Formats: sequence, C-alpha cells, structure tokens
Amino acid sequence: MQKKIEALRSGALTKIQKARTVVELDRIELSLFGRKKGVMTDILKGLKNLDPEARKVQGQLANDAKKAIFEAIAARRAELIEHQTIEAIDVTECLIPPLPHGTLHPITLISQELEEMFAGMGFRVYDGPELEADYYNFEGLNFDADHPARDMQDTFYIKNLPGRLLRTHTSTAQVRAMREYGAPLAVICLGRCFRNEETDARHEHTFFQLEGFIVGNDITFAHLKGILEATARYLYGQDTRVRLRPKYYPFVEPGVSGEVTCLFCRGDGCRLCKSTGFLEIFGAGRIHPNVLREGGLDPKKWSGLAFGFGLTRLAMLKYGIDDVRLFESGDLAFLKQFYGGV
Ligand code: DAH
Repeated sequence: MQKKIEALRSGALTKIQKARTVVELDRIELSLFGRKKGVMTDILKGLKNLDPEARKVQGQLANDAKKAIFEAIAARRAELIEHQTIEAIDVTECLIPPLPHGTLHPITLISQELEEMFAGMGFRVYDGPELEADYYNFEGLNFDADHPARDMQDTFYIKNLPGRLLRTHTSTAQVRAMREYGAPLAVICLGRCFRNEETDARHEHTFFQLEGFIVGNDITFAHLKGILEATARYLYGQDTRVRLRPKYYPFVEPGVSGEVTCLFCRGDGCRLCKSTGFLEIFGAGRIHPNVLREGGLDPKKWSGLAFGFGLTRLAMLKYGIDDVRLFESGDLAFLKQFYGGV
C-alpha cells in the first residue's frame, strides 16, 4: 500500500509537470481525483477499511501525496495559463460580404402604425383564423343563405371540408370576439383575406383588411365618426375630412360608406377620385341586432358600431402604389423601398 501511494505520487507529479495544456491537466486531475474513477479517490476511500494503526500511517502518506499533487496541479495550471499563446483573431477582418438587410413589408408597416393608434384608443387586437367557418364569415353576420357574396365566384371554399372557407373579410372577428369577451368591448382585427378574383392592377385574390368594432351601452354614430376621423387624420393628415353616405351591408343597420378627402387633389377633384374630391375607404355602421344576438349579447341592452377597411388599399394610397399585385409578388426591388419604415 505504502509503495503504491509513493509510486502514484511520483508518477502523478511527473505527468503534471509534462502536461502541455490546461485541458490535459484537467484530464490528469480527473483521473486522480474523479469522484467515480479517480485512483487517489479510491485510495483515500479505502483508508477506512484499515486497522487504526495502519490507517494512521497510510492516511498520513496519502494525505501528503494528495496535498503535493494538488499544489503541483495548481502551480502547473498557473504556468500554463501564463504562457498560453492565444491565437490572434482579427475581428475586424470580415471575409464574408455583408448579408442583405431584410425590410418590413408595407402592409406590416401600416398595420403596426394602426395597431399602435387603436391600442392608444383602448382597442384590443384580435387575431382570427384565415381558414374560417361559413358561420363566422356569413351566417353569424346576417348574410342570407342566397346572398350574392356567398357565390362560388367570390369565395374560396375548401374541397373536402364542408362549411369551411378562406375568410373573405375580417368582420369574422365580430361574433368570435363577442362570444369570447362579452361586452363592453373594443376590438380590432387585422389580417389576410381572400376572394376568388380575376387579378389585375386593382384586384388581387389575397388582400388585407382591418376590422374594428365597439360594443357598449350608449354608443352612437358620433363615436363612429370620431373614430373614423381620427384614423383618417392619423393616416393622411389633419386636414382630411370624412363623409358618411348610406350603404347596405347585411351586418350593420344603418350601414354607411366612409369617404375621405382625396389624397391627391385634396378635394379639388381629379382622375383618381373621379372629380368628386373624395375617396371611398371605409365600410361601417351600427351592428345589426341579429349579429349582437349571435355574439350572445342582448340587443336591448347593448349597441355597437363596426367599421372595416382594406389595408391594402390604404397602403396603395399612402405610398402611391399603382398595382396591387406588387404586394404579394415577393419582388425585392419593390419591397426594398420600404426599408426604415414610414
Ligand atoms: N366586411 C366589409 C367588406 O369586406 C367591410 C365592412 C363594411 C366592415 C361595413 C364593417 C362594416 O364592419 O360595418 O367589404
């Protein structure tokens, strides 16, 4: 036993002296003192089985060896660290050409801007599904079974999934959010919508809308006008005026179309606004009692307003984009122009 300890000690000290790297040193330390496989660990553990006299002698020897080895390891480690040559890396030398920057899509930019504005007015942002039930898209919104908007020409139905479609508008959020949150509530829902359209510079099968609605006890048309004016001014400047004209939508009664001062002629009349000085931007109205009922709300107790607009159209007007197909084109030359935001 005694010889074994001595041999171990001198062997270990030589190895430690010869170690050329810290990693190597660590490995030696582990082979000696590792909790499971360390040779010294085993010896130290074995001491307790010896008779008291032998334990005293061997114990002394083993502990001396342990101390000497520890000291040698510490000293060698300090030496190695001091003399370690660190491979010089010039971090300023970049051989990889810089990667091209991504940019935010114009729809994303305008969505972020509007989300921020509506959140400031106390609206919560609701995210509904793009693959939607017929019920939330049409039936729950008071569309008759034979309403023309349900026509196969407008709506993408899903093969083998009866009652499912790609939402044609974000008004789907109305009944969903009413059922989920109850009243009072103020919600906006932004997102992709789909219609089976023949595409050209003004029509696209995929486009973006923003739907907003509030439900409360004393909601009046003045609230609607206020919200729409705030939105239009936020987007197009303080001198923008809003004009409401009656228009039919099944889910609002009365329904209106909202027009804003033409961005290009500022009201004088031009080709874009067909000389009217106004551009139709919003659809809006008082939420139909049937829709409130579908949302689980009593129309005698609650009243609501809803408005919706095409984000794609807003973006076209705001950035002067004349072909709607550019948005979904993935054309980097087009998208790069929006770097840095608005
Ligand atoms: N969902 C309508 C559309 O896609 C837009 C709309 C009209 C939304 C009137 C409304 C509204 O909330 O009150 O054409």
